[in-house]
Amino acid sequence: MTTTPQKALGFFGEDADFATLSEVTDAARAGLSPDVRDFLDGGAGREVTLRRNRQALDRWAYRPRVMTGLGVPDLATSFLGIPLGLPILTAPFGADGLFHPEGHRAVARANAAEGAVSIVPEAGTHCLEAVAEAAPVAARIAQVHPMGRPANFFALLHRIEDAGYDAVCVTVDCPTAGWREGNRRHRFNLDPAVISGNYPASGPVALDEVFGQLFTRTEPVWTWAELGERMATTRLPWMAKGVLTAEAASAAVDAGASAVLVSNHGGRQLDGTPAALDQLPEIAAAIGDRAQIALDSGIRSGSDVVTALALGAEVVVIGRLAAYGLAAAGGAGVRRVHQLLRDEMRTILTLLGAGSVRELGPAFLQEVRP
Ligand SMILES: Cc1cc2nc3c(=O)[nH]c(=O)nc-3n(C[C@H](O)[C@H](O)[C@H](O)COP(=O)(O)O)c2cc1C
Repeated sequence: MTTTPQKALGFFGEDADFATLSEVTDAARAGLSPDVRDFLDGGAGREVTLRRNRQALDRWAYRPRVMTGLGVPDLATSFLGIPLGLPILTAPFGADGLFHPEGHRAVARANAAEGAVSIVPEAGTHCLEAVAEAAPVAARIAQVHPMGRPANFFALLHRIEDAGYDAVCVTVDCPTAGWREGNRRHRFNLDPAVISGNYPASGPVALDEVFGQLFTRTEPVWTWAELGERMATTRLPWMAKGVLTAEAASAAVDAGASAVLVSNHGGRQLDGTPAALDQLPEIAAAIGDRAQIALDSGIRSGSDVVTALALGAEVVVIGRLAAYGLAAAGGAGVRRVHQLLRDEMRTILTLLGAGSVRELGPAFLQEVRP
């Protein structure tokens, strides 16, 4: 009698490198100097908001549907007219060259391979044109700071259009840099080389003319009306990043935003603000179907993505997770982050009894009483 060798039933795919997101994070942290590690990990002030982001995500419990007859869950969606293979955008984290020399060029290539999309930072190591050239299918949204001389801002919008981007992300919660205790303890100053991709020394706009504003404010903060007028000069749709209240979300939509990114900047700007997740319901109620909703701040797992989508976000933005992937293994590390998120999301949706990310809603959740 011949016997067929039994095949192992495993939890791993072929590639067991970085079997979990915590392994990616650990590898990233191990390779960074203490000051850069703190710049990446840390938050503003006493890090109350940083902690709140996690507490809010952990407060929700699933209400699973069982015996549903459903097949493999569908993760595809679209945002600002851009099709996505999974409901994930990578955040515009500046100073990306601190984590890997290829920075957002590597992030964009990884996104292209895994069906995600990049929000490319204005304060990046590589210029927005170079990131677009690295992976045009993924480099679709360019982030800008609404500050400085309007002429410089218009010039930046023209560059974004000319480079083929489909949308603009305007960061509204950063009129000045947050009070970061960790950076101060380390006497950490950003090397101009890692944030000057868009403003090289040989270029027409000096770096400190744009980003100097973040540290030494000499001009008033722009108003929604000014932002609306200035954004009306581009044909591209735009999203307001850093919205935390129904009032700000309504003002953004009234000013012409097609989407809002509910975010407290990963707890890095104003300490003491609520968790981004906790603000989703009031913002969803305020804007209805007038604009799309994204969420970031605290997302560390596929389960977190599912919770945020069930509470009303259409896509989720990952900041530190993507940066950890980049620091751990360059573009391959970012790809691994997406693969692990995707596989975990499929598992969660199957166990939860949801056929696709688009059908998630509050009926799949209940709040855990403390
Ligand atoms: C190292 C680092 C640099 C960042 N730089 C920027 C930036 O230049 N512009 C911006 O709008 N947000 C910036 N952010 C915030 C992210 O875009 C995003 O809102 C935040 O990381 C989301 O929270 P999470 O890290 O918990 O996912 C940065 C975040 C990190 C970690």
